[in-house]
Amino acid sequence: MASIDLSVRLAIDSDAETIAAMSRDLIEAGLGWQYRPSRIRELMADRATVTIVGCDHDRVVGFAVMTFGDERAHLVLMAVVPEYQRRGVASELLRWLLESAVVAGTTAIHLELREHNVPALGFYRAHGFSEARELPGYYRGREAGIRMARVLRSRAPVPTFRRTRRVDG
Ligand SMILES: CC(C)(COP(=O)(O)OP(=O)(O)OC[C@H]1O[C@@H](n2cnc3c(N)ncnc32)[C@H](O)[C@@H]1OP(=O)(O)O)[C@@H](O)C(=O)NCCC(=O)NCCS
Repeated sequence: MASIDLSVRLAIDSDAETIAAMSRDLIEAGLGWQYRPSRIRELMADRATVTIVGCDHDRVVGFAVMTFGDERAHLVLMAVVPEYQRRGVASELLRWLLESAVVAGTTAIHLELREHNVPALGFYRAHGFSEARELPGYYRGREAGIRMARVLRSRAPVPTFRRTRRVDG
């Protein structure tokens, strides 16, 4: 395959159908389709959520959705179309999100994945995430999940103030 001309940008309204279809086929297969275009548009409109797409020229080949809380961020969805996998697309999306998280002062990123999702486990491990918890029945009571997390920085210590004695003369 020819080399990729990869760019990452914020998703726009017309990306919602493509993102939802990727979620249905690559993330939610066999579970029922929750992230339909209307749900994706809600996420795109949510001020605490960032939805980005990776494009090869004009074609959307991957996407990611992350919600920022006060301290922690939740990586809600991420996928790359099969013919573009193992070519660094998800790494580039994650790099974009990590940079945003650092600027936002986020202490940790967490996410969930299906227990048999070996590619995603490999991807997140390769990016410094580790398994934090098993989640029995997490996927609509039918399938277990794994929670993974990556710490970005330790919580800021409580500031201490030292009174310094003024020395005149
Ligand atoms: C998980 C996923 C997003 C990775 O996307 P990607 O663009 O292929 O990932 P990258 O090319 O950036 O991979 C970077 C590194 O992650 C690791 N990795 C990626 N895919 C892997 C796999 N199938 N098995 C083991 N390690 C893998 C490797 O270390 C890889 O580096 P390398 O290719 O030099 O060995 C992709 O496989 C995907 O879309 N899967 C279906 C949807 C999904 O499961 N999403 C995550 C849960 S929401």
